Amino acid sequence: MDIADIKKSALTEIEKAKSVEELDKIRIFYLGRQDGKLTGILRSLKDLPLPKRREIGPKAQTLKRELEELFGKKVSSFRFQVSRQIDLTAPGKRFKRGHLHPLTLVDREIRRIFLSMNFSVVEGPEVVTEYYNFDALNIPPNHPVRDMWDTFWLKPQSAGGERLCLRAHTSPVQVKYMESHNPPFQIIAPGRAFRYEAIDAGHEINFHQVEGLMVGKNISLANFKFVVEEFFKKFFSGQKIEFRYRPSYFPFVEPGLEVDIRFNNKWFEVMGAGMVHPRVFEYAHYNPRDWQGFAFGVGLDRLTMIKYNIPDVRLFFSNDLRFIHQF
Ligand code: FA5
Repeated sequence: MDIADIKKSALTEIEKAKSVEELDKIRIFYLGRQDGKLTGILRSLKDLPLPKRREIGPKAQTLKRELEELFGKKVSSFRFQVSRQIDLTAPGKRFKRGHLHPLTLVDREIRRIFLSMNFSVVEGPEVVTEYYNFDALNIPPNHPVRDMWDTFWLKPQSAGGERLCLRAHTSPVQVKYMESHNPPFQIIAPGRAFRYEAIDAGHEINFHQVEGLMVGKNISLANFKFVVEEFFKKFFSGQKIEFRYRPSYFPFVEPGLEVDIRFNNKWFEVMGAGMVHPRVFEYAHYNPRDWQGFAFGVGLDRLTMIKYNIPDVRLFFSNDLRFIHQF
């Protein structure tokens, strides 16, 4: 092929090319470093006699520049066509927005209601010493009631050091709070609790409670009844509920009771409660003759299940978006 042939066929092929890939092949055929036709001519110039070199050299260089320019133009014309295929008027893709977990929604609602009743919200640690989880709550070592809470014990940090555990309920907050605050006060303490127990539709190893504690002069069960009923009426937005108070036993209250509510024609156990035991006040360095109070512990997961009619506590941590998106 001489220069004229190369020019002729290259121009026709570039003209006909329909894609960047095709164009690339043509470019390699004529201008490729290894076996390009025009590259071959340019490379052989040095072996030609001078007059020939003078004749062919400039022509080959000009053609090379011309072809490179043409390739460039054609490639950008393809790119332009591709970008014109994007429909700028098409509606955008909608991003899915997340939202709060049902347990968080209920936690916030409980805080809001108690704040409106002049309670303060406090938080306690999830890892506690054996003392706050049991002893200070009037549960001495070897007392059979320790079996009620199958506890996750942590490896001791030092030999003879205090035993640590994941709190089995939110009640450790009681003495911990009283040690550094003077009555009268009324607090709630929402948070996680952990029990090493068989998981089923109603029991998780990791669940949530809201502890309540009101201490003052002349506090009685009548005050407790008012606060609790007021709370549930607000929580279920004025829907019809009935209450049932049953005697029960917790070592840190005397008397102790269990509260059930009837909602949508079904009875649910919702909380343990009672008047703070004098021994607990002693652990907190309060004089039990000067102060009375009530305490309660309500299961937050249980309340969420009742409110939203959720049949299984395990759904909360199942990571199933079909469940979560319903709230
Ligand atoms: C207690 O934990 C007491 N600390 C409550 C208390 C506080 C009594 C203050 C008196 C004074 P109980 O073990 O019954 O009590 O638990 C209270 C609530 O926590 C239960 O009604 C239930 O709703 C919830 N709960 C208990 N264990 C689990 C579990 N494994 N999974 C989910 N919820 C649970």
